[in-house]
Amino acid sequence: MTLAAHVWPDSAERSASGVLTLGGVDVRTIAEQYGTPVFVLDEKDVRRRARLYREAYPGTVYYAAKAFLSTRVAQWVTEEGLGIDAASGGELLVALRAGVPGDRILVHGNNKSQEEIDQAIQAGVGRIVVDSLHDVVRIADAAERFGVVQPVLVRATVGVEAHTHEFIATAHEDQKFGLAGDVVDEAVRRISKLPSLEFRGLHSHIGSQIFDAVGFSVAAARVVAIAKRLSDEQGVDVVELNLGGGMGIAYLESDDPLDPVMMANDISEVVSKECSAAGIALPALAFEPGRAIIGPAGVTLYEVGTIKPIELDQGLIRTYVSVDGGMSDNIRTALYDADYTVVLASRSSDAQPMLVRVVGKHCESGDVVVRDAWLPADLAPGDLLAVAATGAYCRSMASNYNYVPRPAVVGVNDGACRVVLRRESMEDILALDPGAATVPSTT
Ligand code: LLP
Repeated sequence: MTLAAHVWPDSAERSASGVLTLGGVDVRTIAEQYGTPVFVLDEKDVRRRARLYREAYPGTVYYAAKAFLSTRVAQWVTEEGLGIDAASGGELLVALRAGVPGDRILVHGNNKSQEEIDQAIQAGVGRIVVDSLHDVVRIADAAERFGVVQPVLVRATVGVEAHTHEFIATAHEDQKFGLAGDVVDEAVRRISKLPSLEFRGLHSHIGSQIFDAVGFSVAAARVVAIAKRLSDEQGVDVVELNLGGGMGIAYLESDDPLDPVMMANDISEVVSKECSAAGIALPALAFEPGRAIIGPAGVTLYEVGTIKPIELDQGLIRTYVSVDGGMSDNIRTALYDADYTVVLASRSSDAQPMLVRVVGKHCESGDVVVRDAWLPADLAPGDLLAVAATGAYCRSMASNYNYVPRPAVVGVNDGACRVVLRRESMEDILALDPGAATVPSTT
């Protein structure tokens, strides 16, 4: 089976004997050394994408840490010139532990606790994105307590929700993020009166896994209209415009997201056009891609455990291939009906393809990794499967359902492996349960 270049990490190759290698490392070696399931991250690929986005997009590019974060990944992307978008105190702490300077971090959250706000301000974060009127008070209070002036953006919901090739544009948004309508103006009015806050500009994020610039264009036009209104009515300048993340990636060979450079050009062009039409100065731009930086660089390796052919109506056979992970390491199939590319990774095969459903080991029938895939009919227990484009929102959304420990993440580069996150052990998990710390005596 050939590996579609836009779906697999840059370094993915089949060796002469047909074994998948990633970053120059045989997947069988990775599985042996670190166990399965295991996430493999191609370091060069992450770095190349980070550079590509930094160069293609004008202004500041923050890596959206929610897609996946560890200290190494924070170092890779910041070394390539990106900042970090942290959506919780936990993400912020990991970025800080990685040595990321506070001023390169932007903090998000629709319900930031006072503790998280204090932590952000003490760390000297470059931007905090205001997501409610409560935020205004809490951020101002913390900044005052710590004796600093905190630069903030206000997140505006502009009634555009984008996904892949579609976007929905409405007047109102029924969702928990950001401020809508004239509440944006009210937030800015309040911020302007608070000496511990510095209003920098507006933020808008319209969705995720977006394949073209059309939704961004509509959103940009609406944010620029807000900027114009703020300038006219309050004499306040929007000097910075953060248009969020959401740039899509290919999960399947047939997926065709717009080239990142073209996407960047299209978005910047629209912003310039809208600003000159509105007669306002072009603000500095910022973006927050997550998936597009880390998603395609990651691959999950699973070991096949059981194989069950099930006879469906009309004599059709669906073969259930169970692997040693599932919805605890990739919830996206169950949650979003996401589709993935899967291949036999540990050997080549000339056998005919069979229609399979790759499922996990959890006690739930929705525990599906890949709903429909073609794999060689001689597939057997012990074979390794590789699922592509699992770098984003898989390990970061992993759970311990059924007390299954979360997999390791291993970085590969130039024939070498490095642990990015070690595998969670049952000891790690049992340590949370006071009653499980000791083995009960049986006498
Ligand atoms: N900025 C903000 C304010 C966001 O809310 C998000 C994602 C991003 C940036 C990064 O978006 P990206 O470039 O990664 O699409 N769990 C879902 C995706 C949720 C995205 C939430 N916000 C998934 O697995 O598809």
